[in-house]
Amino acid sequence: MLITIIRSKGGAGKTTLTANTGALLADYGYRVLLVDADIRPALSSCFPLAERAERGLTHLITKGPSGGSISRTEIDGLDLIYSDDPDSTLSTFILKTADLSGI
Ligand SMILES: Nc1ncnc2c1ncn2[C@@H]1O[C@H](COP(=O)(O)OP(=O)(O)OP(=O)(O)O)[C@@H](O)[C@H]1O
Ligand SMILES: [Mg+2]
Repeated sequence: MLITIIRSKGGAGKTTLTANTGALLADYGYRVLLVDADIRPALSSCFPLAERAERGLTHLITKGPSGGSISRTEIDGLDLIYSDDPDSTLSTFILKTADLSGI
């Protein structure tokens, strides 16, 4: 199941809803992967990390799934791909890449 939480309005509660929903589902026993795609990485710092991956969302999107982009939080079953794109280069990359089959 994929849940996307997005809204253009600032301060609407996106990060709070995402963090709470993720933690709740993990408490229910689901395996949850939070993906922080916000250039201001608030979700990335909501939960203490038990193991921080070397890379975040930029590597995953531009290079593909090899090489470890998933960090483990201290909550069982709750993992995270952190945001590492403060200059918003990913949106340009995606716009210029018709499909991602070449990565
Ligand atoms: N359901 C709620 N009731 C009351 N306050 C809330 C609720 N959800 C979020 N907040 C508060 O509103 C503020 C903004 O929430 P949050 O950071 O989650 O919004 P956001 O949409 O992610 O903002 P941004 O656009 O800046 O990323 C925070 O102070 C948060 O604690
Ligand atoms: Mg937010």
